[in-house]
Amino acid sequence: MHELIDGRWSARGYDPAATISVADLTTIVDAGRWAPTWGRMQPVRFLVGRRGDETFEALSGVLIRGNAGWAPRSAALVLVCTTDRPDDPKEHTYAAVDVGLAVSQMILQAEALGFNGHPMAGFDAAAATTAFDIPAGIRALVLLGIGALVEDPASLPEDIRERDERPRTRLPLDEVAFAGRWGHPAFTGLEM
Ligand SMILES: Cc1cc2nc3c(=O)[nH]c(=O)nc-3n(C[C@H](O)[C@H](O)[C@H](O)COP(=O)(O)O)c2cc1C
Repeated sequence: MHELIDGRWSARGYDPAATISVADLTTIVDAGRWAPTWGRMQPVRFLVGRRGDETFEALSGVLIRGNAGWAPRSAALVLVCTTDRPDDPKEHTYAAVDVGLAVSQMILQAEALGFNGHPMAGFDAAAATTAFDIPAGIRALVLLGIGALVEDPASLPEDIRERDERPRTRLPLDEVAFAGRWGHPAFTGLEM
């Protein structure tokens, strides 16, 4: 597996003093812009905040659940939005798939530039819609935190350090990748 994919993880222990240059942040958002897009529709839009600017402050203000504790330590917060078309289930569905692909590319580009990217659903989308005058027909789906890890994890608040130290796991490949029929492992018994 490529080292960028292998090394990716959703960290919380960001250095609250670290900054990101406009050039690096532009590159990360551009990586999202170049993601595959269903029917070349390009429904994805980005609201970009760098720590210290008004957009960042407003995005920090819509964080909910546990995210309000760690995510303001990000160097940048990017709200990823897409079209809201419940009347057109196909466009509605694939507009969301486009967001996933854009966020994934942004995370890997962030990683390539030495940053960590952490996607969040835990924000108040209605509050974001109001704060940024997001028009009808657009929905805010993912808030992406982009940050630099602290050099010494021992310096982190206990709750953040503890969550970052939890083991990362995934279901075994045999339980998610099938061939022939549903549930039949795709790779077991095959020569690698
Ligand atoms: C759509 C989506 C929403 C998520 N929302 C949150 C969130 O609100 N807060 C959070 O801390 N992590 C969030 N995550 C990150 C997941 O918790 C994380 O990806 C999962 O625990 C696996 O860990 P890993 O990314 O380090 O492999 C979200 C991930 C996705 C894909």
